[in-house]
Amino acid sequence: MDWTLASEMTYLCVPIFVSDLAQARRDVALAAEAGADLVELRVDEVTDGDLIEQVVSQSTLPVIVTCRPTWEGGRCELPDEQRAALLSRANKAAYIDVELKSGLWKQLRPSDENRPRTIVSFHDFSGRPDKMHNVLTELNQTTAEIVKIVWSARTLRDNLEAFEILQNRQKPSVALCMGEAGMLSRILAKKFGAFLTFASLSNPSATAPGQVTIEQMKRIYRWDAIGPDTKVYGVVGSPIAHSMSPAIHNAAFSQAGIDGVYLPLLVNAGYESFKAFMESFLAMRGMDLSGLSITIPHKENALRYLQEKAGRIEPLAQSIGAVNTIRIDRNGGGEPVMHGINTDYGAILDSITAPLGIQREELAGRRVAVIGAGGTGRTAVAALAHYGATVVIYNRTRERADALADEFNGKTGKVVAAELSKLSGTCCDIFIHTTSIGMHPHAGASVFDGQMPKLSADSLVFDAVYNPMQTRLLTLAQQAGARTVGGVEMFLRQAAGQFHFWTGRDAPVEIMRQVIEQRLG
Ligand SMILES: NC(=O)c1ccc[n+]([C@@H]2O[C@H](COP(=O)([O-])OP(=O)(O)OC[C@H]3O[C@@H](n4cnc5c(N)ncnc54)[C@H](OP(=O)(O)O)[C@@H]3O)[C@@H](O)[C@H]2O)c1
Repeated sequence: MDWTLASEMTYLCVPIFVSDLAQARRDVALAAEAGADLVELRVDEVTDGDLIEQVVSQSTLPVIVTCRPTWEGGRCELPDEQRAALLSRANKAAYIDVELKSGLWKQLRPSDENRPRTIVSFHDFSGRPDKMHNVLTELNQTTAEIVKIVWSARTLRDNLEAFEILQNRQKPSVALCMGEAGMLSRILAKKFGAFLTFASLSNPSATAPGQVTIEQMKRIYRWDAIGPDTKVYGVVGSPIAHSMSPAIHNAAFSQAGIDGVYLPLLVNAGYESFKAFMESFLAMRGMDLSGLSITIPHKENALRYLQEKAGRIEPLAQSIGAVNTIRIDRNGGGEPVMHGINTDYGAILDSITAPLGIQREELAGRRVAVIGAGGTGRTAVAALAHYGATVVIYNRTRERADALADEFNGKTGKVVAAELSKLSGTCCDIFIHTTSIGMHPHAGASVFDGQMPKLSADSLVFDAVYNPMQTRLLTLAQQAGARTVGGVEMFLRQAAGQFHFWTGRDAPVEIMRQVIEQRLG
């Protein structure tokens, strides 16, 4: 079979460790079904040349054959001559991958035009190669048709170096970073014109941080839609691996036909880390960074960064002290202009005004209990005070509630603090719960246990906790006859607000809701 591949395309390649013919055939079939363009058959543990010949000739997808030695992170313990002998049995493969350090690429250049093409690769599992420039020069000086460099990323900035390598490539190239911080290099490989990227079949080998399965690549990360002009969005936080935001926003982009991709962006705690991330990503040529969601622990850092850079900041985000959304405009390709807003407060307000059938302004004078004085509690208090509500803050640590009340009392609404143990005697009829009590895996707990307030059909209880969707707090409130709203409503509304801020279009809320409910269901 002629496996001539178009060099201008970025192939989606699934690595398969070969143990026997049946398993290899099954995995190739699964890869083909999942939409792979190529498979990399890893024959590290195969010593039978006939098996290599069979798996290659029976593959329904073009094949890269690799027999990686242990000294380059593989499993093959054979000396180079024996590896070369095994690889010579893969003459029906489209490509053979050999290590720069082995020198095997010099032997793998038969004159036959139908021979497999050569990929010469270099891996560094300990981090960025010390002599990156020299390695790249050496790779490019080989007779290989494709060059490949892979290293373990320490921070997101390693990905940028991988993209620069691709932008400056002399031959079709692969530049990938391993580890959770390197996930970007895999997904955006297509945007930056890599020869290929790897995605695993859904099996245990795919669970290492940074590995993306082919199903995730296609369904969540919009592989088929990514192109050179695709705009990049993402959620900045730490930890971030389990965030639902990429699935929600990418589904929304797909539904709305927007040329964008949304990624998890792991940035370590601390202002300097946040600033370094922003500076390097904004400066990266061709990155098209267009919008960011900001989550724990960076909402305050985002505000500070925008203040330093004379970004445009929504006044209420300033008074809350937290920015959860950034939009980056580049009018006429000039310097980026950043805008920061907070979509959390609107999400909290609308989560209670919608079921009450009132406008935000009609919260003036309403008595609202805010339980919790952390980040979400603070956002709720600032927003309610802004609209003139009378707020009572109940928090485990009383001093924190006092400080929050002092900060917002009297500006527009009345804000006071009270002991959490006095919740049962509250005069409020709207409740906003913002502590982490009742959150997975402690779903059996509720802040109402032992201090249940008097609830009626006129009461409204909103629980910011969204995992589980039906919390014990909501169940207790429903049993007492109150109306209830779960945290999914806030999550959805803050995400929809971000989508609108970035794109100027109404968010496809129902698709977003479906994704959240599937995830939490
Ligand atoms: N639905 C959404 O879109 C959304 C968005 C953001 C957050 N949330 C949820 O809101 C909750 C709080 O998040 P956050 O970012 O505001 O957290 P945070 O800043 O860490 O604040 C946590 C709050 O919970 C209180 N708390 C924690 N454990 C407690 C306990 N065992 N007993 C009594 N009080 C306790 C803390 O009281 P102390 O002051 O005494 O420590 C503090 O008031 C989380 O469940 C989060 O998932 C939901």
